[in-house]
Amino acid sequence: MNDANAPIAVICAMESELSHAVKCLDGRSSLLLGPWSAERGVLGKRPVIALASGIGLVNAAAATAVLLAGVRPCAVINFGCAGAHNEKIFPGDVVIGSEVVAYGSLITLPDGSERYAGFRYRLNGQVTLTDLLRADRELLRRASDAARDWEPDAWPAARTGARTPMVHTGVIGSADCWTQDPQRIGVLHDRHHSLCEEMEAAAIAQVCAIYEVPMLAIKDISNNELHSATEHSDAGPSLAEVSGELGARSFALVKRIIASFDS
Ligand code: 5AD
Repeated sequence: MNDANAPIAVICAMESELSHAVKCLDGRSSLLLGPWSAERGVLGKRPVIALASGIGLVNAAAATAVLLAGVRPCAVINFGCAGAHNEKIFPGDVVIGSEVVAYGSLITLPDGSERYAGFRYRLNGQVTLTDLLRADRELLRRASDAARDWEPDAWPAARTGARTPMVHTGVIGSADCWTQDPQRIGVLHDRHHSLCEEMEAAAIAQVCAIYEVPMLAIKDISNNELHSATEHSDAGPSLAEVSGELGARSFALVKRIIASFDS
């Protein structure tokens, strides 16, 4: 990571999120990685490769594997939007993921109760079982330092009198799910202490763990279902009216982390 020539990879799910990274890259060029197209360039002095995986765990895992095998970045930072798991977290807030959990990894027991099954993967010939994957310590320290004198931009549609956005550090939960039921959000929050949910971080973290590449996830909150339910059509959630905001604040913090390697 401290080799200034080694690229840092930034991965998000959607093209709208990727646009925040792409517009910051100098000397940009495209790189085909099988069916994915990544953007390469320089941010400050640091080579960066930016990729939108597509939504969900499978897309995120496959794109990360292709990227790690093809480009061998020295670190991976996952950014993008997420939904809050606690009523004190608001749109515009940013969550630094000290840990990620795969909250959909479950055994449903005969009595209907659930047992969390965590992550299972092979590392150096050994099967590894773990409830959570921790962020790389150096990336996490750099993220905390970068957040210290920084405030995310205000959320455009914030209620009048709303507090200014803030940065939280804690657990990010991932699954191929979008949870709207407040009771279910409560169960997940109690089980995992999760601050938010999204659909990619756990997959990216697991692939990085397998490749032994340092990883950190940073998310910006675009919805809090405990305050107001997001409209979902057949095509998915209606995030269109805030599409320019998705990933903006998490990438702003990622940019500060990458800049910290220059000084
Ligand atoms: N639940 C699940 N995923 C969410 N996302 C934003 N908010 C939520 C939420 N409440 C993210 C996912 C995915 C896209 C649909 O938006 O990570 O990339």
